[in-house]
Amino acid sequence: MDSIVVKGGRPLQGQISIAGAKNAALALMPATLLSEEPLTLTNAPRLSDIKTMTALLQSLGVEVTSMQDGKVQVLSSHDMTSTTADYEIVRKMRASNLVLGPLLARHHQAIVSLPGGCAIGARPMDIHVTALEAMGAQIELRDGYLHAKAPGGLKGARVPLRFASVGATENILMAATLAKGTTILENAAREPEIVDLARCLRSMGAQIEGEGTSTITIQGVDRLGAATHPVVTDRIELGTYMLAPVFCGGEVECLGGRMDLVESFAERLDAAGVDVTETPNGLKVKRRGDRPRAVDVVTEPFPGFPTDLQAQMMAMLCLAEGTSVLEEKIFENRFMHAPELVRMGANIEVHGGHATVHGVEKLKGAPVMATDLRASVSLILAGLAAEGETIVNRVYHLDRGYEHVEDKLGGVGAQIERVTGV
Ligand code: EPZ
Repeated sequence: MDSIVVKGGRPLQGQISIAGAKNAALALMPATLLSEEPLTLTNAPRLSDIKTMTALLQSLGVEVTSMQDGKVQVLSSHDMTSTTADYEIVRKMRASNLVLGPLLARHHQAIVSLPGGCAIGARPMDIHVTALEAMGAQIELRDGYLHAKAPGGLKGARVPLRFASVGATENILMAATLAKGTTILENAAREPEIVDLARCLRSMGAQIEGEGTSTITIQGVDRLGAATHPVVTDRIELGTYMLAPVFCGGEVECLGGRMDLVESFAERLDAAGVDVTETPNGLKVKRRGDRPRAVDVVTEPFPGFPTDLQAQMMAMLCLAEGTSVLEEKIFENRFMHAPELVRMGANIEVHGGHATVHGVEKLKGAPVMATDLRASVSLILAGLAAEGETIVNRVYHLDRGYEHVEDKLGGVGAQIERVTGV
């Protein structure tokens, strides 16, 4: 297994290009299942999660052609061979469950393995199932698989979600495009990835209104056509690299960054004493003083503070002047980076969904272990500030969601290298 070795203390200077959004691409790719015409995605990120989704779709008979070093993906589900998403692939990546809605909508059946829990929580699928049943699907849980069918196809319905689940919103949004009649999705998630998916579906011929708000209305159509769609900028990669100069000084311009994607995050950075400036090419970030100030953070569905930036923000607050309280309201177990940061000299107390961070003047490099995608990158960021060397192990987590993190940070002056493991 590879490790990433970071030597801290070097100020950063320069530009980092932000890639297409992993969490948009993982919903856009299954959309190919809704049409027999090709779907071309541009600005696609080069990540192992994309490879996993590609393998899943290919196991269903989808043809996936990768071009321009993976930045362009052409998908065609003209010759489908299966409607079963196998546990061996689904267990690796929860987003595999996003084939459920499209398979039901166009093929009127699907057998999808339950993804199983992961490091950050149980992550059930009850919201997806209840919503699809409201649209006429018959879904039975048997041997760890959801056995779903919709004889005669799905029907439009009023679908209130008990929680603004991102994945459930995406599954229903895709399923409703081919349902008979109108679907009104209430308490829908409002994430930019939902907006991006709706735009792609509309370019395929879907009739959708209200994406980005809590109520999305979809008028079912008989069939969808071909489309070419650019994947939206990754707001989580963006927020991650916006934080980098706060750890070790300097100034970084995140190319492709857009303020509307990270408004609540940028507001917390401003409160912590960090300047975020819009430029013609993206967002420029610079720490105002020598140390950030302590701020409180509560994670919420968009447009609130994103849970996927909580670990990175906690790492930064470990060095802040004062005491910060972070409340994680989306997942039940998303503070696993805390004990690893404590090994680097941070002062953090975790009680249930709250973490209290007493800022310290400096962190010390140490061997640390990643436990999930965002925890991994928070340890690398901490290593940028730490005295000495930080070795982050199990970086396969990182490669799921960050393209060549060592090249992007190394390119702005960080002392960072990937060590190929045994
Ligand atoms: C998406 O996961 C993202 N993944 C996650 O990013 C992100 O953290 C999450 O949304 C929240 O923003 C992708 O887009 C591929 P949810 P998803 O359904 O759709 C509970 C990353 O690091 N819930 O909004 O699975 C669930 O357990 C990943 O890139 C139910 O109880 O998130 C969780 O506590 C991590 N029943 C909460 O809702 C359900 O049926 C939010 O889940 C569905 C969800």
